[in-house]
Amino acid sequence: MTLALLELAVIIPTFNERANVPTLIAKLDQALQGRNWEAIFVDDDSPDGTADAARELARVDPRVRVIQRIGRRGLSSACIEGMCATAAPVVAVIDGDLQHDEQLLPRMLEALAADASLDVVVGSRFVEGGGTGEWDRDRVAKSAFATRLSRRVLKAELSDPMSGFFMIRAEIVRSLVPTLSAIGFKILLDIMTASPRPLKFVELPYVFRTRTQGESKLDHVVAMEYLIALYDRMFGKVVPVRFAMFSAIGALGAGVHLVVLELLFRWAAAPFVTATIAAVLVAMTFNFFLNNALTYREQRLKGARELLGGWVSFCVVCAVGAVANVGVAAFLHNVQHGDWRLSALAGIVVAAVWNFVLSSRFTWGR
Ligand code: GDD
Ligand code: MN
Repeated sequence: MTLALLELAVIIPTFNERANVPTLIAKLDQALQGRNWEAIFVDDDSPDGTADAARELARVDPRVRVIQRIGRRGLSSACIEGMCATAAPVVAVIDGDLQHDEQLLPRMLEALAADASLDVVVGSRFVEGGGTGEWDRDRVAKSAFATRLSRRVLKAELSDPMSGFFMIRAEIVRSLVPTLSAIGFKILLDIMTASPRPLKFVELPYVFRTRTQGESKLDHVVAMEYLIALYDRMFGKVVPVRFAMFSAIGALGAGVHLVVLELLFRWAAAPFVTATIAAVLVAMTFNFFLNNALTYREQRLKGARELLGGWVSFCVVCAVGAVANVGVAAFLHNVQHGDWRLSALAGIVVAAVWNFVLSSRFTWGR
């Protein structure tokens, strides 16, 4: 028996792509004839049974492998897991919905083989010969805006840093994993900005195809995650992204508190203490749900029981935080007699850190 060396792993992140699975493998088979490759589906437990469809193929074709992640979501993190799960020296990432042009793969491989100093080959829609296909003006504008924003973190002259279609040496990815943010959709940008040395790349043109089966998962949450990922790259080392979100939501909560107080105390003429208690409860509840939906969206509490338990523990944590706030502010005010605003600010910071650390452990920590 002669064994041939495995050359390439094609990583295919999927969520609800059942109908596209067999077609994609057939296309890879065509495009990569004469090559030794494997395909790794990384599926986030799609309700439509994508993983089952992939396993069906894998049973008759050992080149097909399946990673099924349960209780997790995320395109970038799925790609990273797939890229770390192969023995192949080179990995490619391609969408599972046939929008990327698999015929580019052999040329990507050749480019890497021809130049040992080359790290990445990027499929680009914005070099001569490439294109965004049938995108409407709205999506073109949004994509251009996102690309422009990426220039703030990316030092390289990459025409299509938003591309989710690229090939890279596996060892580079493995060495970068600890520094990847792994948030959202933009895995290539994440890799390019994580590397301590500039990665050497070339771009090959392709035309983005129209999706015929299933639907896109790019929505407002994904757009928000993009901004979060950019923040993480720019300031994440100074103020961690979760703490920044938690604090921003806390500031919104303070606004909610004031509005409720105004309504009940000034408009409805409720006693001040009653109005304040109501304002605190409303603000805490508002903060709990917003943090659950955004800050902790990956470990979101669901269902009445979990939510009730989470809400109670969040309120307890915040109550202690409020006592700490008052204590610290009063203590500083007594000892330094300086600017009362500084004392108040110190109390707020201590309470914010307390609330964040304790709630991440007891409310959302599982
Ligand atoms: N495992 C996993 N988990 N896969 C996911 C998830 C997820 O949470 N969300 C999306 N995917 C898979 C989809 O099933 C598809 O195979 C691929 O990731 C791309 O998702 P789409 O929802 O089709 O994204 P798109 O077409 O809007 O965006 C694509 O084009 C961008 C270029 O603007 C993606 O390729 C982006 O990476 C690319 O940057
Ligand atoms: Mn797509």
